[in-house]
Amino acid sequence: MSAGTFVSFEGIDGSGKSTQARLLADHLRGAGHDVILTREPGGSPGAEEIRSLVLQGDPDRWSAETELLLFTAARRDHMERLILPAIDAGKIVICDRFADSTRLYQGLSRGNLRAAVDALHTLMIGREPDLTVLIDMDPDTGLARAKGRQGTEERFEDFGTELQQKMRAGFLGLAQEFPDRFRTIDGARDIDTVAMDVRATVTAYLTSSG
Ligand code: ADP
Ligand code: TYD
Repeated sequence: MSAGTFVSFEGIDGSGKSTQARLLADHLRGAGHDVILTREPGGSPGAEEIRSLVLQGDPDRWSAETELLLFTAARRDHMERLILPAIDAGKIVICDRFADSTRLYQGLSRGNLRAAVDALHTLMIGREPDLTVLIDMDPDTGLARAKGRQGTEERFEDFGTELQQKMRAGFLGLAQEFPDRFRTIDGARDIDTVAMDVRATVTAYLTSSG
């Protein structure tokens, strides 16, 4: 069986990643593809346990370095148990956030840890998505949408708009750094319009990669 495809969604909190990842998965399944929809942090039982450690509690519960180790441990488990077996079986894996989130949230939010993030990624993960869909949007709108969800996983949202501004600029910077795999989509439109754009972008990639 031929190798599958690994697609990640990235963007600031509330940009519409989860909504769009789900709509893309539904569309591709309808078109006959075998699709695994997953998310980070989490996606495997062990990684979901780590998720509650990193997303709940005070913003200063962990240092950026400790967080980096926790997110990387979660990703390694997710890769071993779900993502790599699915890709090897020829499936399309759609992941809501992946290593680009670590490059920004742990790499840039409190000092510059980008070199440590990249070193650990090379050592422990060693793979990038084939395609990364960046849903770009204004942080005030994104934060208002995210807060509207009223959840308990608010550690990062509690860092505030200034961090989100930095993350937005950072994601656009990563899109320039990795132009081959990044596609940037304007998220400040209605859900269906964004979804059509995402669908066209991913379908074009799947067609061209054969
Ligand atoms: P993310 O996963 O990026 O945090 P979500 O997909 O969970 O974002 O969306 C956050 C909230 O905003 C949800 O309540 C969702 O229904 C809503 N939402 C998503 N996309 C749009 C859109 N294009 N326009 C308006 N609201 C949206
Ligand atoms: P997520 O559940 O995708 O939140 P949202 O739907 O609000 O975008 O991710 C939760 C938080 O985890 C988010 O604020 C970003 C953070 N995060 C990191 O800090 N590092 C990482 O490696 C990942 C995957 C997420």
